[in-house]
Amino acid sequence: MVDVLLGLQWGDEGKGKIVDFFAPNYDVIARFQGGPNAGHTLYVEGKKVVLHQIPSGIFHKGCINLIGNGVVLDPVTLKRECDVVASFGVDVKLNLFIAEKTNVIIPSHRALDKASEMQKGDSKIGSTLKGIGPAYMDKTGRNAIRVGDLLSADFDKQYKDLRAKHQTLLNNFNFTEDISAWETEFFEAVEFLKTLNIVNGEYFINKKLDEGKKVLAEGAQGSMLDIDFGTFPFVTSSNTISAGVCTGLGISPKKINEVIGVTKAYCTRVGGGPFPTELHDATGEELRKIGSEFGATTGRPRRCGWIDLVALKYTCMINGITQVVMTKADVLDSFANLNVCTAYSINGKITDEVPFAISKVEINPQYKAFKGWNCDRTVLKQAAEVPVDMSQYIEFINEFIGAPIKYVSNGPGREQIISL
Ligand code: GDP
Ligand code: IMO
Ligand code: MG
Repeated sequence: MVDVLLGLQWGDEGKGKIVDFFAPNYDVIARFQGGPNAGHTLYVEGKKVVLHQIPSGIFHKGCINLIGNGVVLDPVTLKRECDVVASFGVDVKLNLFIAEKTNVIIPSHRALDKASEMQKGDSKIGSTLKGIGPAYMDKTGRNAIRVGDLLSADFDKQYKDLRAKHQTLLNNFNFTEDISAWETEFFEAVEFLKTLNIVNGEYFINKKLDEGKKVLAEGAQGSMLDIDFGTFPFVTSSNTISAGVCTGLGISPKKINEVIGVTKAYCTRVGGGPFPTELHDATGEELRKIGSEFGATTGRPRRCGWIDLVALKYTCMINGITQVVMTKADVLDSFANLNVCTAYSINGKITDEVPFAISKVEINPQYKAFKGWNCDRTVLKQAAEVPVDMSQYIEFINEFIGAPIKYVSNGPGREQIISL
């Protein structure tokens, strides 16, 4: 049985913390898409750890962690991250497994990402510049190097061929930066990667399922960044939604059970692209300050705004969400008034659907106002302590999106969560 946990907004919903919280209930935690563009924050022994490539179950001894074939893997980031988790006494040789069909990010993918963004100028995506787009392009273009290839005798030739192809593209972009230092660290990291557990991911996970093991598929990015259904072209290059789990791990849709969606109690976005409820005023600044809204991967300030129920209802629909976790509710503790967006006004027409041209039209969000709960919730432990104003906020959202909020997270720590 496979449960899925993924982000319902534009990423950074707190997936890492929630996976870490749920991990003791599972035997396997598996990443099925994305790459080092992800930054999943957890607190271990009181220390902050940000994971980019390794699934967020790595700190639980009983959990096997699988990097699935749908992921794009940068060996350099992986090696660095393995060193970080090793400093907490985790032996990655015991509980980290990598699918041999996982696509590898090579240094020239990062260069291409940078060159492409520079060429786009003001209309750039705001990519994390980790090489994600170019790596997925090589996958669908059928040029990619996969983890299993690193072990084969012709890896050097494959690398040289792909590197040469990239150089032609880089020349077209007039990109002249020297990336030889990146290549040196890449080849060192490849040697390290070859010492890890490289497995046939689809047999590996299906055998676990046959043995009755419980799997949690961990999403990266958010559903509004999905390559098909997000705010295209301001999206990432993979299917971040629940449908991506099957292709990203090699499992049947029949194996999927719960689909758990994570949303903040408000909304953020990092990088370019439409964000209908974005606040450019002091309230937006307040959300960023109280919520410490700065990117876990790039350190960029996150754009902040009210929760967008039009987008949230849409992402619940395309994912088949069965339960919701609401994070960062504590960030709203000091706000006297809250707004939730219930419709978009586009050229004077009201709609409760996400439009095709979301990246091109001007959207005026229509809000319903709520009274804030105005109290310190970080100390709350049980559902009975949830203030009435907060219950009303939650009930309205449940009703609107058609899925129940089952947990409310009220702080970054593992124990700061209430089951409703
Ligand atoms: P992810 O990419 O979805 O895993 O989320 P990030 O780690 O990028 O960003 C979420 C941020 O919010 C991290 O700094 C977390 O430590 C923090 N966080 C998660 N849940 C909560 C919460 O309930 N309250 C507060 N205040 N912070 C939280
Ligand atoms: P987690 O897993 C938030 C955004 C980038 C950019 C767009 C494309 O931590 O939620 P890419 O590097 O994929 O080419 O960037 O997507 N983005 C994220 N935003 N959280 C993430 O991951 C993101 N990964 C990519 O900022 O706008
Ligand atoms: Mg993040």
